[in-house]
Amino acid sequence: MIKRPFWTDRLVAAWKQASIVWLTGPRRAGKTVLAQSLPDAEFLNCDLPSLAERLRDPESFFRSVKKSSWYWTKCISFPIRAGC
Ligand SMILES: Nc1ncnc2c1ncn2[C@@H]1O[C@H](COP(=O)(O)OP(=O)(O)O)[C@@H](O)[C@H]1O
Ligand SMILES: [Mg+2]
Repeated sequence: MIKRPFWTDRLVAAWKQASIVWLTGPRRAGKTVLAQSLPDAEFLNCDLPSLAERLRDPESFFRSVKKSSWYWTKCISFPIRAGC
């Protein structure tokens, strides 16, 4: 896999300033691969029925995720922090 330090550093820096950071770009640009490669982040695929089921109980969901997480939808990827 090709490393993307420029974008990784920008995302990590932005994440320190805000609880939510939007990552957008053309289809197949590499957003998902980049999101999955971020350090200390949990990648969550909301296309999976199992995750949709977990999200039905937000309190339990936020308790179960790590401090930093990736919450992913078909169109966008953005990180969330538990407890924010
Ligand atoms: N950093 C990378 N190094 C190598 N291949 C990559 C990289 N990022 C993306 N790709 C290739 O491009 C494809 C599309 O990337 P993906 O992250 O799914 O795009 P997006 O989520 O923006 O639609 C991947 O399946 C992979 O083959
Ligand atoms: Mg994607």
